[in-house]
Amino acid sequence: MNQTKRLQRIGVLTGGGDCPGLNAVIRAVAKTAIYQHGLEVWGIEDGFLGLIRNRMRPLEAKDVSNILTQGGTILGTSNKANPAHFATGTAPDGSPVFEDVTSRVTEHIRERGLDAIICIGGDGTMTGAADLAKRGVRCVGVPKTIDNDLMGTEITFGFQTAVNTATEALDRVHTTASSHHRVMLVEIMGRNAGWLTLHSGLASGADVVLIPEIPYKPEVVCEACVQRSKRGKAFTIIAVSEGAKPEGGQQVIDRVIKDSPDPIRLGGISQVLCTQISERTGLECRATILGHVQRGGTPVPQDRVLGTLFGHKALDLALAGRFNELVVVQKAEITSVSIESAAGKQRLVPVDHPLIAAARGVGTTFGDEK
Ligand code: F6P
Repeated sequence: MNQTKRLQRIGVLTGGGDCPGLNAVIRAVAKTAIYQHGLEVWGIEDGFLGLIRNRMRPLEAKDVSNILTQGGTILGTSNKANPAHFATGTAPDGSPVFEDVTSRVTEHIRERGLDAIICIGGDGTMTGAADLAKRGVRCVGVPKTIDNDLMGTEITFGFQTAVNTATEALDRVHTTASSHHRVMLVEIMGRNAGWLTLHSGLASGADVVLIPEIPYKPEVVCEACVQRSKRGKAFTIIAVSEGAKPEGGQQVIDRVIKDSPDPIRLGGISQVLCTQISERTGLECRATILGHVQRGGTPVPQDRVLGTLFGHKALDLALAGRFNELVVVQKAEITSVSIESAAGKQRLVPVDHPLIAAARGVGTTFGDEK
């Protein structure tokens, strides 16, 4: 790709797990490109899969009209399509065979005449974008994920909507826990990062918050439940990250997706703990795994606003010839860092984070100390 060519036609793709606010970014990129700069915009279908299979379509202003409030992504997405490590077949033993199909991708980009690509995604998508950048593809990254774990940015869009959903679920569980005098566990997504659990746990006043960054002691969690019932609080709410693990123990794996570049899917820790607590304390327990409801639905206004700001900034960077940069928020300002610096890394909750201190201050236990 000619590194100095003026932009005429840009592509936009959404990769990795979806999240609320993706359509706000697509809309901001496309409308600004078309209305203000007279550019052509092409929507690449299903993330990098669309580049691998040469599936893309022109986007006109009418195609991105009325999508600001819609969850999901009008372009579709895939979290199995890293061009440098793409499953193209199956070995005799049933395991997937991976190949580097990047040259197929660069050929399709050249054929379609795309001058630059706006890649909206998480760490996996940024790894793919960084690889493409090495082959001369002009990319600008936009960070998304409900997990809020992308390196380099203080916040990703989609996170606030997921916090709302998880908080509402915790609030709902609160009333039934109180009626039935039960210990209720709510399992919250986030992979190896506890941001979603920490924010929603704090917002809903959960009694116990268990996050991957602070391994818990099962006896401390049990004791917290027992002490609450001794104090006359006959119920306990536990917000637990899907990636939480006991001290010296392992995370609970729900499934392994063999043909995915990031094959592990976490899930099930709430059920394990539910059994342990009821066996050890005799208290009645129930577990709820929130799952993908946290990724779906209408984006909250903050995510629509952030998505629009991110889309606008991404186009600005592309127009200024500042490729291979990722739009980020730092010190509450929209700015950018190199895609490479964020690719393949996870931003975890620091154990001295003010939210943890504040939660401890109001009596929340993280299961590590009494
Ligand atoms: O990264 C977003 C996320 O929703 C994680 O919180 C979760 O662990 C994972 O994706 C689930 O992935 P899938 O949609 O493949 O089940």
